[in-house]
Amino acid sequence: MTTTLTTPLYYVNDRPHLGSTYTTLACDAIARHRRLRGESVLFITGCDEHGLKIQRTAEAAGLTPQAHCDRVSAQYRDLWRRWQIGHDRFIRTTDPRHAAIVAQFFERVRASGDVVEGRQQGWYCVACEEFKDDPHEADDPECPIHRRPLEWRDELNLFFRLSRYQSAIEELVARPGFIAPASRRREVENFVASGLRDFSISRVDLPWGIAVPGYPGHTFYVWFDALLGYISALLEPEDPADLDRAVVRGWPASLHVIGKDILRFHAVFWPAMLLSAGLPLPERVFGHGFLTREGQKMGKSLGNVLDPERLLDLCGRDAVRWYLLRDIPFGDDGDFQQQRFVDLVNNDLANTIGNLLNRTSSMARKWFEASVPPAGDAAELRHPLAQLAQEADALYDAAMQSLDFRAAAEAALQLAISANGFLNDQAPWKAMKREGMAGPVGADLYAVLEATRRVAVLLAPLLPDLSARMLQQLGQEPLSSGPGEDGNGSRWQDARGWGRLAVGAPLPPPEPVMQRLELDGPL
Ligand code: MSP
Repeated sequence: MTTTLTTPLYYVNDRPHLGSTYTTLACDAIARHRRLRGESVLFITGCDEHGLKIQRTAEAAGLTPQAHCDRVSAQYRDLWRRWQIGHDRFIRTTDPRHAAIVAQFFERVRASGDVVEGRQQGWYCVACEEFKDDPHEADDPECPIHRRPLEWRDELNLFFRLSRYQSAIEELVARPGFIAPASRRREVENFVASGLRDFSISRVDLPWGIAVPGYPGHTFYVWFDALLGYISALLEPEDPADLDRAVVRGWPASLHVIGKDILRFHAVFWPAMLLSAGLPLPERVFGHGFLTREGQKMGKSLGNVLDPERLLDLCGRDAVRWYLLRDIPFGDDGDFQQQRFVDLVNNDLANTIGNLLNRTSSMARKWFEASVPPAGDAAELRHPLAQLAQEADALYDAAMQSLDFRAAAEAALQLAISANGFLNDQAPWKAMKREGMAGPVGADLYAVLEATRRVAVLLAPLLPDLSARMLQQLGQEPLSSGPGEDGNGSRWQDARGWGRLAVGAPLPPPEPVMQRLELDGPL
């Protein structure tokens, strides 16, 4: 069984921003966790490259749409590489195989009798690539999200008969767990209860799109095309462009992670399209919240957009991942506050976790020949830190299962706090001054080193880099969880046992595993 996990396919109208980076980092943590559990994972991301918005952006830049898409999708690819995102697939909707998949899917939908011709009239938001419901009252209606004028459309299009799926979709959205977090379900239920209307799936006079077979002059509506990217992405490099082949490679998706603004497309339109084509439905759609910055919406006009490239250069991967995953409840809106970011990273990662490792390993090296001290009975499960590590594991597992990264990070951090507390109580630096205390001191240091190792293990999916540096300082192999590394299930299980550090194994000279963040000005 393959676990198929997706980010949205990002529009290439602009450079990647923190919002897309946030979703992608979160999915990366999920993918790494599942791989470590031994699941076979297909983590899909990519770019959504058709439609009017992209066509206009390319025109404004004086480029052909294809040249523009090549440029921006390369920026995404490069950014994900720099962030070390471990995706298995990167799909571009301009991939010729994707066009063939869309055409095959359309044939199935048509064969089900779900394609009809009709007249589309309404107000369109190009930035959303969506018709807006009933803004007729205003003279110059604006998109409530983008605050830009809507454009009036009146054309003959092909429609998908969404209305036929009213009761099936009602049942689906009511299914516990399909829409997560549960708080987002109500909004979709209300939308469905208001009555599903057929929606247009083709455009005339829009050359930058996939041609609709049998309808000259029509291209597919960008969302009809884009959602299918999740299926085209399943094809192996050597596969022909065949819908059935793609489906057996890993459909249905276990989880679509998206922002709350595109929930309707994923929880209503997309399942109905799949039902029409006779394909299984995704198991879960998770709609996360929006990030603001110091309380303000991020936008080019405000000049307050956080550039993921710059964040990476100035702060590093671990710091940003920690802040986003540990501080913002996944599912809720979150506010990026620079001071809080710096404080959390310095307190949690540099002081609590980094110092714990550094001071413990320094003491062990000094007093026990640069190696793991004799454990005495500290290697036994009844040791208080062993018990706390077990409790942390249980909390962590439950949290990761429900995508509560905050609680998972908290469980790891809490274990480090407890280990620090234990060390302060035992005060080995005092005990060591007394005669005959090497045994108990060695055991205490062993227990703390072991607890620190367990913190590193729990951090592996959340902060793979810091986890690897910590394990290395403890003389251990890192827990790899990148693409293709699904075979490590037993290592992860084993690493979560107690007493795994081998007594007498060398401890490398300590180096700080986490630099403190010192920022001169606003990011
Ligand atoms: N192309 C469509 C998705 C098609 S999926 C088949 C799209 N692309 S997007 O690039 O505009 O948006 C991608 C994601 O970024 C969305 O999930 C959106 O919610 C998210 N975000 C955009 N701004 C955001 C924030 N400020 N904060 C968090 N996420 C945000 O929609």
